[in-house]
Amino acid sequence: IEKDYEQLAEWAAEHVIKRINDFNPTPQKKFVLGLPTGSSPIGMYKKLIQAYNEKRVSFKNVVTFNMDEYVGLPVEHSESYHSFMHNNLFKHVDCPNENIHILNGNAADLEVECANYEKQIEEAGGIDLFIGGVGVDGHIAFNEPGSSLSSRTRQKTLTQETRIVNSRFFGNDMNKVPAYALTVGVGTVMDAREVMVLVNGHAKARALQAVVEGGVSQMFTISALQMHQHGIIVCDEAATDEL
Ligand code: GLP
Repeated sequence: IEKDYEQLAEWAAEHVIKRINDFNPTPQKKFVLGLPTGSSPIGMYKKLIQAYNEKRVSFKNVVTFNMDEYVGLPVEHSESYHSFMHNNLFKHVDCPNENIHILNGNAADLEVECANYEKQIEEAGGIDLFIGGVGVDGHIAFNEPGSSLSSRTRQKTLTQETRIVNSRFFGNDMNKVPAYALTVGVGTVMDAREVMVLVNGHAKARALQAVVEGGVSQMFTISALQMHQHGIIVCDEAATDEL
């Protein structure tokens, strides 16, 4: 538990930097990072960029896999997760383009796209550190309530609640929020060697309470973290209001 969002971002970024710098990459195995979008990780990304500029970290030997992407939204749309990642991290650091993986929500065959993504993660040697945020309903990536806790990468229908919450990025019009997304599964996230979830603000307090003090449940998919050997939740004090 960190005092505020600034401290949370600092803690998370320093953890990522340590993991990257402690890792000895070989031609066969680079450090594999799972990455989230949303407002929660923005502070951490800013700190990582700052650390890169100070030459405290490099992403040259880092391979990344993003959690999710909207279906049918053009890649160049300002709210696509491709745009988000480019603007908030990749254009500022030295991660080679060929190391960056983001699901293609415009693929001709979405099932094949998802199956290939799982294969690419496996070929990269699995994910070393998966970073996530959490939805107000306790979802991780786009694994909405009711998603199987052993799910793999696939297409999901977004709930009305998620579309309303995310409409703030689409001119407050939920009809402009895509109805479907591609997302890694809960099982995909839990297969990572370490999972770190960022939770900030009072709006997330009920979700955090359910996830930490409730049972493991597919209705709060992030609660699967309770079963992970190396699961970390980094939160600010406001998010702990219901604990
Ligand atoms: C979306 C994303 C999630 C993210 C969640 C919370 O649903 N698919 O990965 O965790 O939003 O977003 P925020 O961090 O903006 O609260």
